[in-house]
Amino acid sequence: MKLWGGRFSLPTEKQVEQFTASIQFDWRLYEDDIAGSVAHCRMLARQGIISPDDARQIIAGLQQVYDQIKRGELEFSSDLEDIHTHVESRLRELIGEPAGRLHTARSRNDQVALDLRMYARRFIIGLGRQLIAVQSVLIDLAERHLDWVMPGYTHLQRAQPIVLGHHLLAYREMLARDFARYRDSYARVNLLPLGAGALAGVPYPTDRNYLAKLLGFAGLLANSLDAVSDRDFALEVMSANAILMVHLSRLAEDLILWSSSEFGFVEIDDRFATGSSIMPQKKNPDVAELIRGKAGRVFGDLHALLTVMKGLPLTYNRDLQEDKEAFFDSADTCLACSSILAPMLSSLKFNQARLRQTAGENYSLATDYADYLVGKGVPFRQAHSIIGQVVAWCVEQGRDLESLSINELRHFSDRFDPDAIEINVDYSVNRRQGQGGTAPVQVERAIQEARVDLSRQEEWVNTTETALPDLDELFSRPPAG
Ligand code: ARG
Repeated sequence: MKLWGGRFSLPTEKQVEQFTASIQFDWRLYEDDIAGSVAHCRMLARQGIISPDDARQIIAGLQQVYDQIKRGELEFSSDLEDIHTHVESRLRELIGEPAGRLHTARSRNDQVALDLRMYARRFIIGLGRQLIAVQSVLIDLAERHLDWVMPGYTHLQRAQPIVLGHHLLAYREMLARDFARYRDSYARVNLLPLGAGALAGVPYPTDRNYLAKLLGFAGLLANSLDAVSDRDFALEVMSANAILMVHLSRLAEDLILWSSSEFGFVEIDDRFATGSSIMPQKKNPDVAELIRGKAGRVFGDLHALLTVMKGLPLTYNRDLQEDKEAFFDSADTCLACSSILAPMLSSLKFNQARLRQTAGENYSLATDYADYLVGKGVPFRQAHSIIGQVVAWCVEQGRDLESLSINELRHFSDRFDPDAIEINVDYSVNRRQGQGGTAPVQVERAIQEARVDLSRQEEWVNTTETALPDLDELFSRPPAG
């Protein structure tokens, strides 16, 4: 039986039912949908819009529907279109007539906007916890490899020595900003659309503030037309997802490069690598490659919803049903990538000797030689040019910078003193003591600060989660309270 069957004299084409149905993907909103319905029902009873007795029956029935869906006992079918219809029709089967009063002062348009916002809140909290876990692993790894020198790259050419701890903390910073993006978006996700009705608001003395309180929303969407028809909150979360995946794909790419024989910087644990069906010697970084690859679908999901939204006339249009698959796919992918990353990162074994050896190769200390001359009073531009000549000569002679004697160096500038032989990779990293630099003392400081930041993130997730409605409590309160 259709919720809207009254106006129609012909049954819907089977193909149309299948084409328009969303139950095959929106079933996963059931928990949020039922929580929203319980709150709505309580509000209706509290405002005297339905009787306390009807409310009691509706809530008891919704609890049964919830348990049945949770146990997989409710069969989903495309002739019932979506999760909202499934819940309501099962409720009617269970409690009869009072079920018909639940949808008073509500439309599926404000209902579905509510459900997706509630789902997005839980997603942000769940992903937030995972981002904290990944950052925590990065910080621990940075601490263990605090002063392991390695080559730093620009243009994928060895540029200057850095320490591994610094490189790892760069990703921690990116993830911290990602976390902040979700936290900021939460403030705009966490607004109540319910009460907007189909689009214009509802002609009943509802209490939206009470609903917001029951459902843990920080405020109300102020305009009913906007409430049912915008999905910018989803776009915002999906944008944060896309940026997160940019970061994860770069981390993955570093691991892919570093685990190749060409780099030989790191070994990915057997448990997180896979083999080749033809080449017995292969150990492939497939997990990292898939993280890199999955960035593509998360960008695609964002693009899909942006395109759905663009130019859509106010207010609700069925196009909006297309928000969910993109949102779910984007969310699932981010959860999958971040949850596998933490254990994979913890299992990494870095090759200290190889990192150190390559850190000093390819004239990576040339800038330090130039800076040395600056310390002796030579203008930087001139120092740059002198060391450029030294490097050109070394390349010609097949020599390393560090192999040059003071006399050889003096050939290029009389400002070289015997202390020039102190220039090496450790000297190089230790001199970069400015805040944010790679000197191990700075990295140590950055680790302390990152830990403080991480505990603030944890606090935010915990308090935010505490403010979410508890379904058991919603079910068990007095019907009008
Ligand atoms: N399945 C629909 C969606 O996801 C629910 C809202 C339906 N509203 C309507 N007027 N047909 O958007």
